[in-house]
Amino acid sequence: MSVFLVIIASYLIGSIPVSYLVARLWKGIDIRNYGSGNVGMTNVWRNAGPVAGVLAWAGDLGKGVLTILLAKHFGGPEVVAAAGIAVLVGHSWPVFLRFKGGKMVATFVGVIAAIALPVGLIAAVVWLAVVGLSGYVSVGSIAAVLAIPLLIWAFHLEWPYLVLGILVAALVIYKHKPNIKRLAGGAEPKIKRKFW
Ligand code: G3P
Repeated sequence: MSVFLVIIASYLIGSIPVSYLVARLWKGIDIRNYGSGNVGMTNVWRNAGPVAGVLAWAGDLGKGVLTILLAKHFGGPEVVAAAGIAVLVGHSWPVFLRFKGGKMVATFVGVIAAIALPVGLIAAVVWLAVVGLSGYVSVGSIAAVLAIPLLIWAFHLEWPYLVLGILVAALVIYKHKPNIKRLAGGAEPKIKRKFW
């Protein structure tokens, strides 16, 4: 398969709106009209319950893992990193949801875990620790994606992965602009109040 086809296939895998489908099938709701409106695990958990949230998280993370495992058959780090960027762009700007998708965190962790498992695991631990300490999922997400490029550098991964890490971390933070505004205004919901 040519690199171009790998990238198109990765984008299409990313475009599968797992969180949207889980909320639709589990609770019959269009998750874009509830809570933060985000098509992601946190918002599914808030509005369709913990089981649906975990399913959404697993599916979104799985898209990242699957894409990287497939891409590894077709090329080296340059091709794998390009596929990683494509699946994340697909997740966040999905062709199947009129280009309005999620904030990439779960899929990003899946991508990184499939590239270098220790980096993915440490990023997940950072996410859990910061969410636990701060009570804000968005703060945990931002901390985890900032940690990823640092970890890629610390683990001496190949340069295409560093480009992937820096670029995607910037995109994820850009996608969290509404959360950052709500955090600054004291309006961001904490997990304890809103999750159960
Ligand atoms: O991973 C998304 C999370 O950081 C924020 O989700 O629904 O609170 O905008 P949400």
